Amino acid sequence: MRILLAKSTHEAVSIVATMVADKLMSHPNAVIGLATGRTMEPVYAELVSLAKSRNLQFQKTFLFMLDEYVGIDQNHPSSFKSYIQHHLMVPLNLKVDQIAFPPIHLVEAGEAGEQYEKWIKEAGGIDLQLLGIGVNGHIGFNEPGSAIDSRTRVVELTEETREANKSHFHDGETPTKALSMGIGSILDGKQLILLATGKSKADAIKYLLNHHDDEFCPATFLKSHPHFTLVLDPDAASKISLKI
Ligand code: GLP
Repeated sequence: MRILLAKSTHEAVSIVATMVADKLMSHPNAVIGLATGRTMEPVYAELVSLAKSRNLQFQKTFLFMLDEYVGIDQNHPSSFKSYIQHHLMVPLNLKVDQIAFPPIHLVEAGEAGEQYEKWIKEAGGIDLQLLGIGVNGHIGFNEPGSAIDSRTRVVELTEETREANKSHFHDGETPTKALSMGIGSILDGKQLILLATGKSKADAIKYLLNHHDDEFCPATFLKSHPHFTLVLDPDAASKISLKI
């Protein structure tokens, strides 16, 4: 695991966006896994700006979304599909056939997880996976209790996660389920980058750094990945002490 301690949130965001831009410069046909959440919003804004200043070409890139809510329309303004269209697809003028979304329409038939895994495999796997972290240490929507070898599947959201995301929904509308890549699916990615910003993530980051392969904090499973980078802003890093 490589840990990058940024001097500001802006620097942390810029580090992550630059890593993605560098990847696309060296490998224009890279397959990128995308996370959602407030943490990622400035990363995508920075990537859009880097795309212009460095004349990045996205035509050969393929994108996979990490997860999606189940139980709301995919075109709901707070769906992850709407999120990524707003923050990345439209600003970068990407085509609809350059991105795959977890197929929530196949959930009822019980085929959604298997189908998504098949698409990822057919694309040659994910070269670079972006990740945020939930306040309870979840990654994607792999809540505490998720197994290291879990694959894309329907998951129940914890009350804590629903509470953290409820401002995106009208009363009583907050989804209870999601379709999420599993821990095993994420660990198959060739390079993983987790960005944590803000005080609300400080406890999860402290736990992550002090525990290994602990289902209570699914992000701990990432530490055994050979190409995992953890990027922290000062607030997210405020409860850890690193001895140099
Ligand atoms: C959601 C997403 C995660 C994201 C997490 C943190 O639960 N499924 O991929 O990392 O929220 O979100 P935020 O960045 O808004 O704190």
